[in-house]
Amino acid sequence: MQKILNPKRITDSKEGKGHWFNYYAGYSSIFAESVIARSKLVPAGIVLDPWNGSGTTIEAAVNCGFNSIGIDLNPAMKVISASRLARRDDVNLARVKLKSVRKNKLVGVSKEDALLLWFDKNSVRVIRTYEYELIGREGFESIESYVEAFSKRDSLLYVILFKAIRELLSEFIPTNPTWIKKPKLDSEKVSVNWSKLKVLYLSIFSNVLNDLSFKENNEIESFDLLVGSSTNIPLKSNSIDLVITSPPYCTRIDYGVAMMPELALLSRSGVSEVDRIRRSLMGTTTVPKNIDECSEFGENCSVFLLKVKQHGSVASSGYYYKNYYQYFYELFLSLKEVGRVLKKKGEFYCVIQDSYYKEVHCDLPLILSDMASNSGLTLVERKDFLGGASMVYLNTRSKKYRATTAVTESVLVFKKGEE
Ligand SMILES: C[S@@+](CC[C@H](N)C(=O)[O-])C[C@H]1O[C@@H](n2cnc3c(N)ncnc32)[C@H](O)[C@@H]1O
Repeated sequence: MQKILNPKRITDSKEGKGHWFNYYAGYSSIFAESVIARSKLVPAGIVLDPWNGSGTTIEAAVNCGFNSIGIDLNPAMKVISASRLARRDDVNLARVKLKSVRKNKLVGVSKEDALLLWFDKNSVRVIRTYEYELIGREGFESIESYVEAFSKRDSLLYVILFKAIRELLSEFIPTNPTWIKKPKLDSEKVSVNWSKLKVLYLSIFSNVLNDLSFKENNEIESFDLLVGSSTNIPLKSNSIDLVITSPPYCTRIDYGVAMMPELALLSRSGVSEVDRIRRSLMGTTTVPKNIDECSEFGENCSVFLLKVKQHGSVASSGYYYKNYYQYFYELFLSLKEVGRVLKKKGEFYCVIQDSYYKEVHCDLPLILSDMASNSGLTLVERKDFLGGASMVYLNTRSKKYRATTAVTESVLVFKKGEE
C-alpha cells in the first residue's frame, strides 16, 4: 500500500489552485489525492470533508473521479472551494460578464455595511456597485442564502474580488495571516475609485487565468458544497465511504477574523452578520456564556482542561478554559457525526497538529483519538511529521513559556467498526 505522504503544502506550481486563494490552513492536493488512491474506493464511492476550508479534498476527489461533499460553516470558504472547480466554460462566462460591467450610478450603502470598517463611504459605494455589476443579484437575507445561489462562474468572479479587496487592504494585513487590523480614525480609511478598482480587478483576473490551467467541462463530475456545521452533518447515516479532513486548529485561531474582508464583502446585512458567523466557527476567540461539563471527552482531554483551569496565569480559569472547552465540545460532537455518516469499514483520515497552552502540551492527536474511539472509530494507523505548518509560531508570546515552539503534524487513520 502507498505510504502516507506529508500533508504540508508545497509552495510550487504543482499545487495549482491550492494557491489560487492563499489560504493558510490547507493541506496539499498531492496528499489528498494520495489518500484517495490508497483507500481503494469503489467506483461510486463518496468522499466527505466536514471542515472543507479551501476545498482541497473536493478538488482531489473530482480529479480522481469520485463523488464528493464538502461542508464548511464559513460561507466564504464555499465560494473559494467552488472557484477551484471552475472549468473553461466558467472562465469564458466570467469573461463575458466582465465585458458587460459598466460604471452606472453608484448604489447606496447602509451604515451597517461591514466594508465601512476599512473603506470610506464613497469607496464602499464603488465596491458595491462593481460587485452588483459583476453578480447582479439582490434580495437575499443572509450570506448563506446568497452564496447558495452561486454558480462556479459567480464564485470565480467573487474570488477575484476577494483578492482585489485584500490587495487594497494590504496595509491592514500583518504577516500573521489570521489577523487583520482596522483603521482607528476615519481619515485612515482606504479610498478606491472606479478606475482603480477596475484596473486592479482586471489585472488580477488576467494573472490568475495566466497562472492556472482550467480543464474542459466534465459532465460527470459530481460534488456538493454545503454551508453547514460539522456538529450536525446534513447527511444520512452510513452513507459516506471516505472522510478526509483537518479540523480547525486548536491554537486560538479565529477563522472568522482571518476571513473578515471576504465575509464583509459577501455580507448582506452588515457587521452583525459577520459577527454571527465569526462566533459560530470552531476555534473562535469569543467564549460561550454557559459551560456544561462533559465527561465523555476522554481522559487526555479532561487532564488538559484541568491543567488549563488550574494554570496560574491571567484568565486561565475563565476565558481560556471556556474557549478550550467550547472547542473540544464541538470537536466531540463533530466526531460523533463523522462516526454516524461513515459506512461500516469506511475510513477517516484526519490531519491534525498538537499545540501548547503556555507550557502545557495539548496532545490533540491523542485527545481526538479518544473521542473518535467513543464514536465507533478505531485508530488503525498514525504517521507524524515534525514541524508542520505551525500556527503556534505566530504567537511570539508563547516563547515565554517554553524553549521550543516545534509542533508535530499527524495523519491519523481511523476505520469505522474495526476493533
Ligand atoms: C483547518 S481548516 C480546513 C482546511 C482544508 N483541509 C483545506 O485544505 O483548505 C478548518 C475549516 O473548518 C471550518 N469550520 C470551523 N468551524 C466549523 C464547523 N463547526 N463546521 C464546519 N466547518 C467549520 C473553518 O471555516 C475552516 O475553513
